[in-house]
Amino acid sequence: MLQGRRILIGITGGIAAYKVCEVVSTLAKAGAEVRAILTNGAEAFITPLTIATLSRHPAYSDRDFWQPRDRPLHIELGEWAEVFLIAPLTANTLAKLAHGMADNLLTNTVLASTCPVLLAPAMNTDMWQAAAVQRNWQDVLTDRRYHTLEPGEGRLACDRVGSGRMAEPEEILGQVRSLLHTGGKRDLAGKHLLISAGGTREHLDPVRFIGNPATGKMGVALAQAAQHRGASVTLVHAPLEAKLLAVLKGVRLVPIVSAAEMQQALIAHFANADWLVMAAAVADVAPAEFHAEKLPKRSLPTTLPLRFVPDIVAGLSQQKQPHQRIIGFAAQTGDILAPALEKLHQKNLDAIVANPIDQPDSGFGSDQNQAIFLDRTGRKQAIDPCSKLELAHRLFDFMR
Ligand code: C5P
Repeated sequence: MLQGRRILIGITGGIAAYKVCEVVSTLAKAGAEVRAILTNGAEAFITPLTIATLSRHPAYSDRDFWQPRDRPLHIELGEWAEVFLIAPLTANTLAKLAHGMADNLLTNTVLASTCPVLLAPAMNTDMWQAAAVQRNWQDVLTDRRYHTLEPGEGRLACDRVGSGRMAEPEEILGQVRSLLHTGGKRDLAGKHLLISAGGTREHLDPVRFIGNPATGKMGVALAQAAQHRGASVTLVHAPLEAKLLAVLKGVRLVPIVSAAEMQQALIAHFANADWLVMAAAVADVAPAEFHAEKLPKRSLPTTLPLRFVPDIVAGLSQQKQPHQRIIGFAAQTGDILAPALEKLHQKNLDAIVANPIDQPDSGFGSDQNQAIFLDRTGRKQAIDPCSKLELAHRLFDFMR
């Protein structure tokens, strides 16, 4: 997703500039070509040498802007960039963008480029909430070129706790990756996607359960990709690491534990959904009996009576309206195609992701995945190992 891709990073004068160093470093290590522009304010916090060292390329400042060159620097950089990230974005530079001003290398390059621009503001809470700043923010939101990462809440460098904290590097990186894939198109705008994630737990007592190794990463990546493409997203998720959810601002989260709870939540939200993407690893069986108190070791059974868990997606597909689409996942070992095809038809799905879980760099817990997409019209597409976010985007491309 990043190898050889051309990413321009504009850094303005805020303390969050130090966090952008991590973004630059991660992108460069992943093989992206990174060029950076520092405003005078940014140079008060970090140096061009810091960014040059991390990006393996000289970083530009206003001194370079005024040097004679064959072609003006802002034109060259503007034409070169595939994605332009501005992080941190100060109130001052936001105001300039809102009004089309161009008084330094960064703002001139914004006007001299046509690629998507991703904005990650960072400032003190009162500054962020100031009427003029909010007006400028609303202004840039109306321009389809700008993609935005709202600042989060938290402790700020001024010791205030409130909004104004720059989006975390992980969230910025996700958006950059998505923009490189989509070029900024919002082809799922107006759609509501219901996505399930993680592995359900079927408890025998409060501490013991039948579970599986699913971590929810694939479902989170699907939610991230869908939201990026303009969908409104509801994610029904089994227990998963809290930090995974940090990239999902604006996604409605419905936490559940068991398959029965997942079924209830999905039934409640399905009628309003255009697409259901069933990435969760739902239990097939559960202990026949649940004990509300923890069983003492001596009372534990050595054989466990089980009951089948209802197939959630097969049930929902019977209530499917003509405009709705249902996509399932089939985690398989060995031959992945035949069982996935069978599930596609048996569960009456529109498409299924045949997902090998016995290959290196794919399946449960991995940041990577690979798959074969199949749909009911007979279309088939093999996806080589890639990040789960890329696989999510490729799936939405396939479903268009
Ligand atoms: O477990 P299986 O391979 O049959 O799962 C295929 C699809 O069915 C997945 O999308 C999974 O989320 C869904 N499923 C379900 N309810 C179950 C088991 C699986 O909806 N009880």
